[in-house]
Amino acid sequence: MTPSNPTFSNFELKASDFGSDFIWGVSTAAYQIEGAHNSADKGESIWDRFTRNKKNIYQGQNGHITCDFYNRYKEDILLMKSMNIRHFRFSLSWSRLIPEGQGKLSIDGIDFYNRVIDICLECGITPWITLYHWDLPQALEEKGGWTNRNILNWFEAYTRQCGQLFGDRVKHWIVLNEPMVFTGAGYFLGVHAPGKKGLRNFLPAVHHATLCQALGGKVLRDTVEKALIGTTFSCSQITPYSQKEKDVKASRKADALLNRLFIEPSLGMGYPVKDLKVLRRMEKHQKPEDQKNMIFDFDFIGIQNYTREVVKHSFTVPYLRSKIVNATKRNVPTTLMDWEVYPKSIHAMISQFNSYKGIKKLIITENGAAFEDNVLNGEVDDPERLSYLQEYIKEVHRAKEEGLGIAGYFVWTFIDNFEWAEGFYPRFGLVHNNFKTQKRLIKTSGKWYSSFLKNH
Ligand code: NOJ
Repeated sequence: MTPSNPTFSNFELKASDFGSDFIWGVSTAAYQIEGAHNSADKGESIWDRFTRNKKNIYQGQNGHITCDFYNRYKEDILLMKSMNIRHFRFSLSWSRLIPEGQGKLSIDGIDFYNRVIDICLECGITPWITLYHWDLPQALEEKGGWTNRNILNWFEAYTRQCGQLFGDRVKHWIVLNEPMVFTGAGYFLGVHAPGKKGLRNFLPAVHHATLCQALGGKVLRDTVEKALIGTTFSCSQITPYSQKEKDVKASRKADALLNRLFIEPSLGMGYPVKDLKVLRRMEKHQKPEDQKNMIFDFDFIGIQNYTREVVKHSFTVPYLRSKIVNATKRNVPTTLMDWEVYPKSIHAMISQFNSYKGIKKLIITENGAAFEDNVLNGEVDDPERLSYLQEYIKEVHRAKEEGLGIAGYFVWTFIDNFEWAEGFYPRFGLVHNNFKTQKRLIKTSGKWYSSFLKNH
């Protein structure tokens, strides 16, 4: 039987080893936890629409209810507090605040986020707001969504509203969450909302997201006094399958696409066209003034790392001519997502992002893992997640000891939630959720994180 107060003697690091100003937190996203998809006057988002087609999601699931955070935010934030968590990253649902994406605001939406923010502050928890974590209002998608250059106007107005509404109390802001994923999965592969495919959708979506990334930063700087403004990127260490020149070249292309595409233009380096020729086709979506409008001096950059990718040359993959060799095929330890458990990847990414000039501060805004969890006698013992988190945190510490800049770490995620196209099957939480009863149970990994954060 699992002890209810486990001791974690084999992990020697203490939170204080990272310094007293190191930020420790947890991350979530609106569509994944809130539920209440049609409460009050909330508008439809692209994820509400996309999940209507049951074929799009594992077992036809959707985020209609998910963790019901909309109704349970108070208990959840109190639970966070009891776990010694002092930084909570969540996103705003654009269509909850502005049902049609532009124009009229929802009083109910404003009221909800005000309550979330206020209870965080009462609990001594710093709120970190992500403006955009993938749930575009469907009304804007009908007009082309991220492929329509007007998104710049819609996003600017939305950002300004959010800054004005919440900026008196919220000082930590993240503009976009993983633009590579929402443009790649949503506008190239069609496996995420809105389910669009092909270069003709992907390239304009990328370019407009890059412009909005910088624009959002500028608007927040104008609107929110003393704001700390960041944005986040997905990233994975890329290893060539062999040292053959074609595999090395393939891995360079994958790195340009997966790790460099959005950060480099924001730093004034432009798109990584040299290593990824297909990006030349982006020109037709660009205006001369765009080069400088893609730049913004973020106060921090968030990187989100889970795994590494091993990449080899492939004739069959259009444009990229490279493909990822699945982890299961390589016979390595994996998570439920079939992602290799490879702690050194987080160190490699901290190091890669440190090599850019112009990044003021680097924070791990997501890291975590999905494993099969079982409730046994009212406990969830999750040794694999525990060890995953500890091993990755050790690598973050190693980077810090080596003098690399790294200022914080957020676990993905606080509570098991709706994992996009994979539905509820992959559980990433420190807290287990029973989606039928909404009963929360702190897993062993959550108990460990809370003991690790104690007295920090
Ligand atoms: C990246 C995303 O930001 C988040 O929404 C997702 O659930 C996790 N990684 C895990 O896949």
